[in-house]
Amino acid sequence: MSETIVNRRVIQWFPGHMAKTLRLMETEIRNVDCVLQILDARIPQSSLNPEIERITSGKPHLYVLNKADLADPDITRQWLQYFKTAGAGCLPMDSKQKGKAGAVRGPITQELSALMERRRRKGMVGARIRVMVVGIPNVGKSTFINSFAGTTRAKAANKPGVTRGKQWITVDNFDLMDMPGVLWKKFDSLETATNLAFIGSIKDDILDIEELACGLLSSVRQIYPEKLLARYKLGEEALQLSPYELLQAIGAKRGMLISGGEVDTERAAKMLVGEFRASKWGRISLERPPERALVPQEEWEEDEDAPQDDR
Ligand code: G4P
Repeated sequence: MSETIVNRRVIQWFPGHMAKTLRLMETEIRNVDCVLQILDARIPQSSLNPEIERITSGKPHLYVLNKADLADPDITRQWLQYFKTAGAGCLPMDSKQKGKAGAVRGPITQELSALMERRRRKGMVGARIRVMVVGIPNVGKSTFINSFAGTTRAKAANKPGVTRGKQWITVDNFDLMDMPGVLWKKFDSLETATNLAFIGSIKDDILDIEELACGLLSSVRQIYPEKLLARYKLGEEALQLSPYELLQAIGAKRGMLISGGEVDTERAAKMLVGEFRASKWGRISLERPPERALVPQEEWEEDEDAPQDDR
């Protein structure tokens, strides 16, 4: 692989079942009071599905910044502020905390109830709150729902797109509508696509692992150079290398050589991407909040599509 093609490949992955999910969402959105969108705290912007935003724009939103235990806490705080400024609910979350359903359910219940209060006063919400739970693949939706419900209801797996078909889950006075993970047809930028690939939301089989590793090195050495140098015991001079040379240097450090003394860059790339995903580089946020604001709350307030109190 030459340096020139690093990061140039167009990434697209939109299997048929995802188009079906978006259609299902369009039909079902009228039957819920609000939307709980799960984002990856490391890439809140890239994991925010614009198709989901379009379909659900008339409903109050709670954004859950999941995998916050893997993200930079300072940046996560900035993201919370960003979403809250737009009038949305927003919470950081570690859905993996075992046996602590209360730790997940408590703040979510509080945030959802606050979000629903004004609508309740208008008589737009019944005794039970119906919540559509949405997100892109691998963002931790099944894990979150299992923790929230306190049982193993949805299947967690590391393969994007494993959760299929709509299902209702009843917990306390909430009815959660669990939607399958869904991406969108065309990514608006290469950065979005590569960010999604980094966190494992795009099927690895369609990706060039060396390009992925070089993209990751290129991003992380700009924002957290010290973490990269520390993890792979490299000197400052390594930051002057091109991403591909850096990949080679790291592979060599780890003794990943093939015959002739060349570095096995494919193996090194797999190791790098795997270690990033397993958070071996430390807590990393790949995106900072943008300047532009989100959908203002007034639009949700004017929405009259919420199910009436006939439950
Ligand atoms: P999905 O339904 O959105 O597709 O995601 P799923 O719950 O299957 O979770 C995808 C992976 O992310 C799983 O790891 C899961 O354990 C992990 N995960 C989910 N939420 C969190 C979180 O808040 N923090 C951290 N650190 N990880 C989280 P896996 O390796 O595929 O499975 P496992 O070996 O952990 O069970």
